[in-house]
Amino acid sequence: MAADVTTTDEWQALRKHADEIRATHLRDLFATDPGRGERLTVEVGDLYVDYSKNLVTDETVALLTALAERVGLADRIAAMFAGSHINGTEDRAVLHTALRLPQDATLTVDGQDVVADVHAVLRRMAEFAEQVRAGQWRGHTGERIRTVVNIGIGGSDLGPVMAYEALKAYRDAGISCRFVSNIDPTDIHDTTADLDPATTLFVVVSKTFSTQETLANAHQARRWLLAGLDADEQAVAKHFVAVSTNAQRVADFGIDPANMFGFWDWVGGRYSLPSAVGLAVMLSIGPARFDELLAGYHAVDEHFRTAPPARNAPVLLGLLNVWYTNFLGAQTHAVLPYSQYLHRFPAYLQQLTMESNGKSVRTDGQPVSYDTGEIFWGEPGTNGQHAFYQLLHQGTRLVPADFIAFSEPNHDIGDMHDLFMSNFFAQTAALAFGRTAEQVAAEGTPAELVPHRVMAGNHPTTSIVADRLTPATLGQLVALYEHIVLTEGAIWDINPFDQWGVELGKVMANHLAPLLTADQPDLTTLDSSTAALIRHYRTQRNR
Ligand code: F6P
Repeated sequence: MAADVTTTDEWQALRKHADEIRATHLRDLFATDPGRGERLTVEVGDLYVDYSKNLVTDETVALLTALAERVGLADRIAAMFAGSHINGTEDRAVLHTALRLPQDATLTVDGQDVVADVHAVLRRMAEFAEQVRAGQWRGHTGERIRTVVNIGIGGSDLGPVMAYEALKAYRDAGISCRFVSNIDPTDIHDTTADLDPATTLFVVVSKTFSTQETLANAHQARRWLLAGLDADEQAVAKHFVAVSTNAQRVADFGIDPANMFGFWDWVGGRYSLPSAVGLAVMLSIGPARFDELLAGYHAVDEHFRTAPPARNAPVLLGLLNVWYTNFLGAQTHAVLPYSQYLHRFPAYLQQLTMESNGKSVRTDGQPVSYDTGEIFWGEPGTNGQHAFYQLLHQGTRLVPADFIAFSEPNHDIGDMHDLFMSNFFAQTAALAFGRTAEQVAAEGTPAELVPHRVMAGNHPTTSIVADRLTPATLGQLVALYEHIVLTEGAIWDINPFDQWGVELGKVMANHLAPLLTADQPDLTTLDSSTAALIRHYRTQRNR
């Protein structure tokens, strides 16, 4: 839609409705509607999503779904699944959903049988992974591979490391993975310091194979390997594989294209975990488990593609995010997994959500007149409870939060999981219902302390519960958030699939790099702050 969404009747109706909701407390919504806690739920795959503790009524949901209809969300969803070039600024299809289509599905895009391409790469990955896991793929000196080091950044790092950590309970081949992303030399230094090059395999992951950080780390890894093995370039073939869309650059780096696993320009970096980018994960949990991950994604894809808006979990949660951002003034959104294994999930979601929806122009190039892209952040519970939850409970800001948990623990030790989950249940209830002055006073609290101990409540949360953290439920969770992102992007009429905003910094870093080391750099063209900072740096580096 070309017009500004804020001018639609649907948007205006939501604005009006927001005034009513501001005057309503979750306590009242629950008191007057005993069925709310069961009714305002939706199931998708193995995920039970309870959105009843949000600041919404049935009318809110109806108004939000009307807005979704008005902006043509259903068409946008259909266009993505069909492979239309919905990434307009790069003239590309957006087909991460094709990465998890079953083998017997059909999808031809731009004249290419996408399903056949995807499964050909998956088969090669599986073959390679089995060889490494079985100890048949040997290093240059004949030893089996024990450690995989994934070198990549952004989408070529955050997805693999998040999933590797999340699926720790499924590692079964004695292969451990490490992840190097930062160009800070301490990262590669510390990651390789105690490794034996003879048993180390590097997986260099870069969609473009031109990313400064990744290439610098990969070159250093090669120097480290050859020095450690006291070998020549021939050793590289047994210790380096690449994941990329750019075969030429991979070859230029010196990696045999036979050791390259490809993907396609219709896979955005932050959506690429289910492609060959997930190779490190497959090496650690095996191809069969990786298939379960893909099947989990696919279950949510199908739900997103077919469920009506009012029963469609990603659509509902995406619309709730719009509700808080544009009508109730929220700036941030917390993601709080009650699972230590999901400790990198919030970081992963930061790229997924903020690189996607951190945009300020509409698809037609006009500036938006409304807020977009919330700031996503979070830490696992219960750790966060002893850090930032104070602000959630008694601060002045509206922070909608997603609480994620699993009924079955990956390790059942005494009654610890029940204690853990009692915190999960307690927090969302405390945030929603708080504690009134009367309740606090009735506990015998001295009058002067009552206002300090009152908990206003009315803080919105969504609870997402699965039976267990498995490859399948992880795939479902990630797909859920991917489609939340698309839903929000459709309402805001922005393109969630480009990332032009990260380019300027990269260009400037390349421009400044020589000025840090040159003998007589000309700093006069720089702004006075940057020039002074560089002079200060050079002095400290004795240049
Ligand atoms: O930060 C920008 C970005 O392009 C991300 O979108 C991407 O995930 C990351 O850099 C890494 O890119 P590549 O996989 O091409 O090395």
